[in-house]
Amino acid sequence: MKHFLTIAQTPADTVKAMLSRARALRGQRGQATGTPLNGLTMALLFQKPSLRTRVSFEQAVLDLGGHPMVLGQHEVGLGKREPVQDVARVLGGMVDIIGARVFAHADLEAMAEFSGRPVVNMLSERAHPAQALADALTLSDEFGEDLTGRNIAYVGDGNNVARSFAAACAKLGMGFRLASPEGYGFDPAFVDELAQLGLKPTLTTDPAEAVAGADAVYTDTFTSMGQEDEKEARKKAFAGYRVDDDMLAAANDHAIVLHCMPAYRGEEITAEVFDGPRSRVIPQAHNRLHAQKGLLAELLA
Ligand code: CP
Ligand code: NVA
Repeated sequence: MKHFLTIAQTPADTVKAMLSRARALRGQRGQATGTPLNGLTMALLFQKPSLRTRVSFEQAVLDLGGHPMVLGQHEVGLGKREPVQDVARVLGGMVDIIGARVFAHADLEAMAEFSGRPVVNMLSERAHPAQALADALTLSDEFGEDLTGRNIAYVGDGNNVARSFAAACAKLGMGFRLASPEGYGFDPAFVDELAQLGLKPTLTTDPAEAVAGADAVYTDTFTSMGQEDEKEARKKAFAGYRVDDDMLAAANDHAIVLHCMPAYRGEEITAEVFDGPRSRVIPQAHNRLHAQKGLLAELLA
């Protein structure tokens, strides 16, 4: 049984195959895709809000000939109305693939263990691997399919998006530098995991050090879903980490700016940068659809 829970656990060849299928399936719908999901149903379970993930997966399943079934937390009550194992075992007897957006990554692991179906991580507090595929696709649209030796700077919170993107850099031979305030970087266990994948990231508290000579600069919200109580403390801790034109002056002239969205202009990024000429955030969001098609087609191949 193949699952897609983290980029780190996905072999590099599989990540590359998902990307190459994403390129081939871009713009294709129905018969033109070979309908790898023909007759299959995918449950899309959401414990947290979503725009991009929900729409891209639902559209991807339809494009590939399958049937998506979106299930909100208000109806399923994952872990509240009933335990994750019970939801997983019931769904496993009715649908063919399970995607879930959860608070606790352990709930995805439980679903993989108990459902008997391929499980796809649509965001947990630890990882957002479906996003990382779209991020890599956006970089390859800009710099070509071979991304070896490119250098990526991530400025901000060492969160789910940062971790998955760093793991994608490891799989694709890119350098990765993280600039975050003390206490908001990667935990040592994840740094070890990256080392085992052959990546030694630069970890710094200095955005200028991370951004110097970078080919792309990535940021995300300072306060992720589930951390709302920490918002004020985080605002203080992240002062000086807003991506603005001054910060970008140290990057390569051709450097692009990425953001997984939703974005908070004036917090982690200025409006000038987010809406400016270096920004690729909208094509990056659109790439979620293409990437999710590549992911699902490869997972079921
Ligand atoms: N980037 C992303 O996952 O967006 P949503 O939360 O809207 O799905
Ligand atoms: N880090 C953010 C990403 C949202 C797509 C969060 O987890 O809320």
